[in-house]
Amino acid sequence: MTDNSGPFSDYPLPYQSYDDMADVFRQYVSPGKLDLWEGFGFKLVLGKRNGITFTDAYSGKEYINCHVNGGCYNLGHNNPRVVQAVQEALGKLDIANHHFGSPLRAQLGERLSATTGHALSRVVYGVSGGEAIDVAIKAARAHTGRQKIVSAQGGYHGHTGLSLAAGDPEYRELYHATLPDFVQVPWDDPEAMAQAVDSNTAAVLLEGIPATMGMCPPSEGYFQAVRQACDAVGAAFIVDEVQSGLGRTGKIWSYQHDGIVPDILVTGKGLSGGIYPITATLMTPEIHEILSRNPTSHISTFGGAELGCVAALAVLDIIEEPGFLKRVTELGERFEEELHNLPFRLRRRGMFMGLEFEEESQAFLTLLRLFEAGVFPFPSGNDRRVLQFLPPLTITDDEASDLIGRVQQVCTE
Ligand SMILES: Cc1ncc(COP(=O)(O)O)c(C=O)c1O
Repeated sequence: MTDNSGPFSDYPLPYQSYDDMADVFRQYVSPGKLDLWEGFGFKLVLGKRNGITFTDAYSGKEYINCHVNGGCYNLGHNNPRVVQAVQEALGKLDIANHHFGSPLRAQLGERLSATTGHALSRVVYGVSGGEAIDVAIKAARAHTGRQKIVSAQGGYHGHTGLSLAAGDPEYRELYHATLPDFVQVPWDDPEAMAQAVDSNTAAVLLEGIPATMGMCPPSEGYFQAVRQACDAVGAAFIVDEVQSGLGRTGKIWSYQHDGIVPDILVTGKGLSGGIYPITATLMTPEIHEILSRNPTSHISTFGGAELGCVAALAVLDIIEEPGFLKRVTELGERFEEELHNLPFRLRRRGMFMGLEFEEESQAFLTLLRLFEAGVFPFPSGNDRRVLQFLPPLTITDDEASDLIGRVQQVCTE
């Protein structure tokens, strides 16, 4: 690898230009990924990353990251406290050995459990959100001795085996990954849920707020109705907080707005600060019991890597600081106040926000104009009338003013 650092990267880039990179990427990784975005005239490569912004490595254009990879960069790119924690551990810790006890996995387990008031006091670690969802489904099935999983149409839980089976046909049919006993019902419809949940149901699996479906928070009472439907038949309620969790909504977990406690909670993405992959499936001791009795029945070599635990502990330190969640709540209110009279409706809980347009084409044109203006939101894959709008939670007042100004300008032109 030659060291011909691009001008817009802090890290030596092996290719001088986008086209040089693309030639190799096309040949050895995926032509399709590049074709998709190039079709819209968009040749993006992440270069310099710092706080709320990243810079395109080859053009030097700077963007405010309002996609944050679905929450990975909730605390900004390269959050200095997370980076420092991992840097201090590098060369001393590594992934450790998942077969044995670990002080860091224990400490993180206790801290995660505490975020649920110790209701979900057993933690199984993973590497990806999909893996963590698979664990949730496996645990619910093992505990109940039942098969059926009820999820929401348009929801998204990952692309591994069981998480994929719980998602939309569009993603699973191509891979012949449809599985029996997975049922989807319309989101936010308590009657459809009550009808679907029966004595064969192992679990209901819902996102805290569905992101891919279009950033639509549950209506008041919906999660309580789901909780009741589950309780009536002894099914587990799994809440997927991969995107909605870790402070994004102004509470640590989105379910804490809904007056329920789930039996299983899945977290990922922002748990690592975008620095080192780690995910976690939290569950009640009762549900976990069967995993504990069969300790080798579920393993994950990299799951709960100690370097990941270090990153996650630093993330929790930040979001649990006094005032952090209050500021998220206040910032969310500010966005709502200042993003009005524009051609979209703001869907929002805390700073979990979506810009809902009337037409898909309008959303898409606005997306391209926002890119030009250096703002980087992202389309909701299953409702393209909605742009996911997720500025980092660490955004300062001045940065928020700048961001709001850019959105206002693009949308009033
Ligand atoms: C709500 C939700 N659950 C699960 C996942 C899967 O996570 P991963 O991509 O880490 O497997 C995602 C990913 O976008 C997600 O948004």
